[in-house]
Amino acid sequence: MVLSLIHKSTPLILSVDGVSKSFDGFKAINDLSFYLEEGELRTVIGPNGAGKSTFMDLITARTRPDEGQITLHLEEGHDVDLRRVREHQVSQLGIGRKFQNPTVYASHSVYDNLLLSLNNNRGIWASLRFKEQKRDREKIFEVMKAIRLQDVKGTLAGALSHGQKQWLEIGMLLAQDPKIMLVDEPAAGMSDEETDRTGELLLGLAGKHSLIVIEHDMEFVRQIASRVTVLHQGSVLKEGDFDTVRSDEKVVEVYLGRQARKH
Ligand SMILES: Nc1ncnc2c1ncn2[C@@H]1O[C@H](COP(=O)(O)OP(=O)(O)O)[C@@H](O)[C@H]1O
Ligand SMILES: [Mg+2]
Repeated sequence: MVLSLIHKSTPLILSVDGVSKSFDGFKAINDLSFYLEEGELRTVIGPNGAGKSTFMDLITARTRPDEGQITLHLEEGHDVDLRRVREHQVSQLGIGRKFQNPTVYASHSVYDNLLLSLNNNRGIWASLRFKEQKRDREKIFEVMKAIRLQDVKGTLAGALSHGQKQWLEIGMLLAQDPKIMLVDEPAAGMSDEETDRTGELLLGLAGKHSLIVIEHDMEFVRQIASRVTVLHQGSVLKEGDFDTVRSDEKVVEVYLGRQARKH
């Protein structure tokens, strides 16, 4: 009921309804509901153990929920029950995930990493590939431009800086044209300048893609955030714009206050 009041104009791309997941009797996710709009860039924050990674595992069918529903809303009212798809089908449905540590092919060039990623998803269409080479090349150049790695396209991925590797991996997701991109701590270990560029990159992707970004660095969250979801003990503790969340007493108590004390 509440949902129809909140989301009037922009259609949803993903609905998570009342999902719970236990590990050995411990409720890592507890009656979690979460709704992502098409083209939205959502930031998810929360203390260690809040269930952020498990949440992404559930969306990518790596983990099955014990209860609740997870639905991908495709065009023209086609809904996909993500509880019933296999993990390897998720990327074909248009959900891409970037893990925290970059997993690029170190001994391949930037260009070839993107080409491999582009071909990865093709499956039965691979036979059409030779006809598509020009379009592939255009796509790869478009992605390299977005991640600003055109000038190092021949460089082996293993020789890139940490930041560049992270961008390349975002590019590898982009090559597959995902509808939803799940990005786990993209700015971890980055310099301030790299962090800033990462924020610009993600902001540039919103609209064309829907994104869920897990992040700890509150300066970075401030840079990219429109709507922020705070997870705590497997549930949504607070959801709202950056300032609303930043000044919420409960959020300060369970997360931001502790974070400040760490530094
Ligand atoms: N496969 C698993 N088996 C057992 N416990 C798990 C498993 N995955 C996550 N957990 C537990 O679930 C809780 C949430 O973990 P996680 O989703 O990784 O939190 P976050 O990413 O927010 O730090 C933690 O207490 C963690 O130990
Ligand atoms: Mg985690």
